[in-house]
Amino acid sequence: MKLVIITGTSAGLGQSFFRQMSSRCDGLMSISRRILPEQKVLAKENGKELFLLQRDFTDVENLSSIEEDLRQLVGHVPIHEVVFINNAGVVTPLGKITEGTTDEIVESVHVNMVAPILLTRGLLNAFDLSTTRIKVVHISTGAALRVIEGWSMYCATKAGMKMFYDVLTHEYKEFPNVTFHQVNPGVMDTPMQEKIREAKNVHFPQWERYSRLKEEDQLPHPDEVAARIIDELVL
Ligand SMILES: NC(=O)c1ccc[n+]([C@@H]2O[C@H](COP(=O)([O-])OP(=O)(O)OC[C@H]3O[C@@H](n4cnc5c(N)ncnc54)[C@H](OP(=O)(O)O)[C@@H]3O)[C@@H](O)[C@H]2O)c1
Repeated sequence: MKLVIITGTSAGLGQSFFRQMSSRCDGLMSISRRILPEQKVLAKENGKELFLLQRDFTDVENLSSIEEDLRQLVGHVPIHEVVFINNAGVVTPLGKITEGTTDEIVESVHVNMVAPILLTRGLLNAFDLSTTRIKVVHISTGAALRVIEGWSMYCATKAGMKMFYDVLTHEYKEFPNVTFHQVNPGVMDTPMQEKIREAKNVHFPQWERYSRLKEEDQLPHPDEVAARIIDELVL
């Protein structure tokens, strides 16, 4: 079985990935805070093995159990390939760090770092790396590499994940079956961009530039972006 695991499939790019990957695999696992009704229907229509795991990434306890879920699955179904699309993310808090609440700051670290790190470890523990091909696709951002005032937590957590996967690329170099891919999808028309446009009254000097992207119709639909990534990485 080729198993595709996607995080954050309830909106934006993750929703597009779910839709498009459902016809490219035998098993589809969504790990998402919200599961959309259409997703159950869509995957059933395609006759897939469907695993819809509802998880809030701020709840670490609930995330740890996913490694056990994967182990059980491995015991029941032969899986020759796993594609893990690490997509869920939050851009908040926006503004100077003093404008962010404690909850927003903690949420940013949990969703953008703790959850993907635990899920990646779970994946690497659960599968036999000598027989299963594992492709980890981390959805990164240009903000992992450059300073954007008002986005300190987003920049920091995304930069942290870049280093995490850079290190893992070295740690797993003896395992040709395991590959890590970091992709910058570029700006796109998703709820995340709506949140960015809402941040008019906080410290965010590039607010106008980001607002213009929508006004000038420069934000591609996430379906287009997902299709390009799937094509480029041969997912
Ligand atoms: N949009 C852009 O212009 C852009 C540019 C560069 C990179 N990216 C990256 O692309 C990826 C997808 O972004 P997007 O624009 O599609 O974002 P989005 O529209 O905001 O969707 C984010 C997804 O993450 C989920 N999520 C948020 N908090 C969660 C939590 N506590 N637990 C579980 N899931 C949670 C959301 O679930 P809910 O629906 O329940 O909130 C949603 O499914 C992100 O990693 C982002 O950093 C985006």
